[in-house]
Amino acid sequence: MRRFAILPLLACLTAPAFAAPPRVLSPPDPAQGERIARRWCAACHVVAADQKEASADVPSFFYVARHMSNRDLSSFLTDPHPKMPDMSLTRREIRDLTAYIRSLAKASGGQ
Ligand code: HEC
Repeated sequence: MRRFAILPLLACLTAPAFAAPPRVLSPPDPAQGERIARRWCAACHVVAADQKEASADVPSFFYVARHMSNRDLSSFLTDPHPKMPDMSLTRREIRDLTAYIRSLAKASGGQ
């Protein structure tokens, strides 16, 4: 008999896990996008106003912000240009990067 008494207890413990609402996608986070940019993109691109050095002939993120739409940016980052390494960014990272680059369109600085 004691063996059966544990079943309702188990049901109570596991029920909340099934009842949990699906994870809601939080809005893009430009601050996280900036961290990714400084870490993964700054070797070649100027990604922020305080950055002095980057490769020649690589567009700065200020330029990119003014010349690419969000949709162009997301599709480019999903399937990057052959001249650029494929960094296998997640959709979340792409959304954050796009939000960060978009914020640079309003900032002054860079070329
Ligand atoms: C190893 C160097 C390198 C790294 C690292 C790099 N890029 Fe690039 N990127 C390039 C080059 C070179 C181009 C120019 C490609 C061309 O014009 O053919 C470019 C172009 C771009 C463009 C413009 C594409 C267009 O059509 O004008 C975007 C946007 C971009 N990169 C975003 C990023 C992001 C975001 C990261 C970091 C996650 C990154 N890049 C990391 C080398 C790099």
